[in-house]
Amino acid sequence: MATRSITVQTSPSLALIKYWGKSDIGKNLPATSSLAVTLDGLFTETTISTSETDLVIVDGKQAPQERYAPFFNNLRKQYGTHSKFSIDSRSNFPASAGLASSSSGFAALAYGCAKLIDPNAEETVISECARLGSASAARAVYGGFTILPRNGAYAQQILEKSHWPELRIIIAITKSSEKKIASREAMEAARKTSPYYAEWIAQSEELFLHAVAACKKRDLDVLGPLMRQSYLMMFSTMFTSTPPVFYWEPESIALIKACEDLRENGYSAWETMDAGPQVKIVCLERNVSHILETLKKRSPGTTFMISQPGNGPLIR
Ligand code: PMV
Repeated sequence: MATRSITVQTSPSLALIKYWGKSDIGKNLPATSSLAVTLDGLFTETTISTSETDLVIVDGKQAPQERYAPFFNNLRKQYGTHSKFSIDSRSNFPASAGLASSSSGFAALAYGCAKLIDPNAEETVISECARLGSASAARAVYGGFTILPRNGAYAQQILEKSHWPELRIIIAITKSSEKKIASREAMEAARKTSPYYAEWIAQSEELFLHAVAACKKRDLDVLGPLMRQSYLMMFSTMFTSTPPVFYWEPESIALIKACEDLRENGYSAWETMDAGPQVKIVCLERNVSHILETLKKRSPGTTFMISQPGNGPLIR
């Protein structure tokens, strides 16, 4: 059969309210509801071709087959096909460093493979397929603001990117080396060993519901403290795992403290972090230059990118 190809561009999904922990490991179902924004300006570009065997190349290196097997097996089952795929994927930001590269990576894979099999493939089914690779990827198959409910099979877009055009996300890349512990290992360690895990699961739904309402109202001063509580509670399950997991670097803490000082001086700058040392600061366009200047002074070695709510997958 003739080889068919498609090239897809996706952007990562940054959780404002975090998914952390699985309610079903085999099905990769999230134990908490998450609210996220798809980030403009950060891209994964993936070319997918039908092939004799599944082969995944990420940033020029062959990726371990076992990481992708559950995704491909589920995709074939979902679409009733025996097709295999060869993948070549590149991102314009560091992979596996806490910048949600797995979200844009698996979203591109799910979107591209599904569209090769069925040009009319539905977004919810694509989202469900992406989830099998990485739960955060279920959200990255849409642009704007998205949710993935706890135990949810697929994510949904709740607001278009145009809903909050003034929103900015400053991405502070403190360190671009690959993390030593994958998020799936860290969240499993938290589930099994952290005394705070149950409390995290119990409290995160309320944070999520309030945050969705604040996002709908475009109220950063309400959303910010909820975001902060979500990421700090998530990290508290990591700090109290056995053995503990520390993704933070000294620069991460310098940036967290800088945000605290900015807020004391009347600038709404709310940080969040994921499974890595990078800090993402959510703010409004009118404050970006002052906030950026302050952050640069406080963490001189850090690279900064400015993002805003972005698009879902695009076929190139
Ligand atoms: O989807 P995964 O397995 O890469 O886990 C993502 C976990 C966080 O980024 C920390 C939170 C989230 O909701 O994206």
